[in-house]
Amino acid sequence: MTVLTESRLPLRLVRKGKVREVYEADPEHLLLVASDRVSAFDVVMREAIPRKGAVLTQISAFWFEKLGAVLPSHFVTARTGEILRRFPNLRASHAQVSGRTMLVRRTAPIAFECVVRGYLTGSAWKEYREQGTLAGEPLPAGLTESARLERPIFSPATKAESGHDLNITFDQMRAGLGDGLAQRLRDLSFAVYQTGRDHAATRGIIIADTKFEFGTDSQGTLRLIDEVMTPDSSRFWPADRYHPGQSQPSFDKQPLRDYLAGLKAEGRWNGEAPPPTLPAEVVGATSARYLEAFRLLTGFALPEDA
Ligand SMILES: Nc1ncnc2c1ncn2[C@@H]1O[C@H](COP(=O)(O)OP(=O)(O)OP(=O)(O)O)[C@@H](O)[C@H]1O
Ligand SMILES: [Mg+2]
Repeated sequence: MTVLTESRLPLRLVRKGKVREVYEADPEHLLLVASDRVSAFDVVMREAIPRKGAVLTQISAFWFEKLGAVLPSHFVTARTGEILRRFPNLRASHAQVSGRTMLVRRTAPIAFECVVRGYLTGSAWKEYREQGTLAGEPLPAGLTESARLERPIFSPATKAESGHDLNITFDQMRAGLGDGLAQRLRDLSFAVYQTGRDHAATRGIIIADTKFEFGTDSQGTLRLIDEVMTPDSSRFWPADRYHPGQSQPSFDKQPLRDYLAGLKAEGRWNGEAPPPTLPAEVVGATSARYLEAFRLLTGFALPEDA
């Protein structure tokens, strides 16, 4: 098991995100490689979190397999053996790809992020507190922070090249994509979230909100793409510690957030890059949380070779 800050594969690099590298595997396929980088408060830390990349990739793979009956997706495989069989030129990079890599069909991504919120938190709580609305739609008065919403709400966003994504209303999305496509994306997003939330509920995890992306393949089929219901694209809360009326502990990054919040409170970090150095205990505790999220959600421990 290799701890990896950044992959370097002998393939064309299409994109490098905060956490993942995207490579062109062949004209029809991409390889999504989740590194062990971690970001908090939108700053990428220098230290890598052991096993985090594999946890993210294998949680996505778990959902894609479960969602096979719900909608088409880009997922092909996240099995390292199969990927190396299909792309023998990656064999020399085995240690880098192992467990953390997903082979997907390439699509033309739709330039909107499909966010579904089941609980009132983050930027949604801020909007509600200030305006009584969520994604521009009025909500009942008197809701508290982290309240469970009676019906999940679709709150799309546009992908900003840098910095925060911009929340928009459903009408703005309709204006950009047309009625038919916008409604389909909303319906599919609800269906995926429902599947995830129902499963997670049986495992003691609340998926408070999550972000989906969709793309169109070369045949014109709409597919769910990117990562799905991972701790990086969603808020996971431990159900047994859910107390509305305040912010909730996060399943995965809480040790890191607590440490950074402490530094900020003491005036030892201003919340911007460059990040502070993380103590080994914080790195270890965060890694353990990611592994625990995987185990709880799927019901089995992340395999050593994943
Ligand atoms: N099947 C696919 N076809 C085409 N593009 C895809 C596909 N799946 C995912 N992508 C794209 O891959 C990119 C992943 O990079 P992204 O910048 O999101 O990385 P990240 O590490 O998640 O960083 P960030 O934290 O900034 O989101 C996204 O732009 C996403 O739209
Ligand atoms: Mg991303």
